[in-house]
Amino acid sequence: MEITKKDMQEKFNVKTLVWDGDALKLIDQRKLPFEQIYIKCSSVEDVCAAIRDMVVRGAPAIGVAAAYGVALAAIRYRNISGIDEFAGFMQSRIEMLASCRPTAVNLFWALERMRNIIEKETSNPESFSKNVQTDKIKSIVSLIVTEAEKIEKEDVKINRDLGNNIFSIYKKSSAKYSILTHCNAGALATAGYGTALGVIRSLNSASMVKEVLVDETRPYLQGARLTAWELYMEKIPFFVITDNMAAYFMSKGNVDMVVVGADRIAANGDTANKIGTLGVSILAKYYKIPFYVAAPVSTIDTGTSDGSFIPIEHRPENEVRAVLQKPVMPDYMPVKNPSFDVTPNENVTAIITERGAVFAPFAENIKKLF
Ligand code: MRU
Repeated sequence: MEITKKDMQEKFNVKTLVWDGDALKLIDQRKLPFEQIYIKCSSVEDVCAAIRDMVVRGAPAIGVAAAYGVALAAIRYRNISGIDEFAGFMQSRIEMLASCRPTAVNLFWALERMRNIIEKETSNPESFSKNVQTDKIKSIVSLIVTEAEKIEKEDVKINRDLGNNIFSIYKKSSAKYSILTHCNAGALATAGYGTALGVIRSLNSASMVKEVLVDETRPYLQGARLTAWELYMEKIPFFVITDNMAAYFMSKGNVDMVVVGADRIAANGDTANKIGTLGVSILAKYYKIPFYVAAPVSTIDTGTSDGSFIPIEHRPENEVRAVLQKPVMPDYMPVKNPSFDVTPNENVTAIITERGAVFAPFAENIKKLF
């Protein structure tokens, strides 16, 4: 059945992740915007596959999904021979989830939170008798599930707070802005509301958005498929451009600010985000357009001193050889597919977080967030 424009807006009640206490349902982002299908993950292996295959993507959403992956591993654990064994099993499942995608630090941040609960609760196993250990495992499983639910809930609040922090830079007024964004840093990339799109949603709620220019974001088309869809549903004015049109619109004075998300921000403010973000930042600098990175504090990796240390994922070559699975060249053509690039801090006007907006000098000011 064909979905009409009207149907789509009326039916908009989409959640990126739905946890029902025993399984995680993820909207299949590979199928959007044409189909709204949920994939059910009943095991940690299912969650790994969903992260790896881009059913769920976007830094905070990957983190939340991984936390539920840990919860599923705990719920399905059956071999109750003792707390030590349980702790070892959980550790191995956390490692499995950590290997799914390398760049977005929210994955490792969320897994660390889960690991801390497990380590705290499983230390001193010899102090429990065998029977008590069974009960103790049950109570740890419930703590693990609660922590995953907490990570999900917190994410939505964090995004609302960071979105509203745009008003510390642009006071509420009757001004209207044209905003360029790259990739999808919206509700679909998070547990809800979005980061870069959170900022845009907040500005729109104050009637301060003239229009959004959405980079299509080759090769995976997160902009054309996901960001455009979210904006359409929210009735925020926008148009999609191919990535190579950004300079044209900037040169015509059609862009007042750029707002993007982030997958990992180094301690000095260098920012890894979807491939193409670096180019947009260079253009913005050339045309003296403010360039904002919107991200939760959990995306800041203080253990990584600068962007050169951020691991960059290289994705399958066929993503470049095809558009929406339709080949545009034979598969023997050589291609490259780095999935992220690093924008140096000197191209960033401010990093907008839930704890406030941070300006240069970034190394110094980022420290004040913690
Ligand atoms: O490969 P993806 O789609 O997971 O990449 C997503 C991005 O680069 C987003 O811009 C980033 O994760 C920020 S999401 C709030």
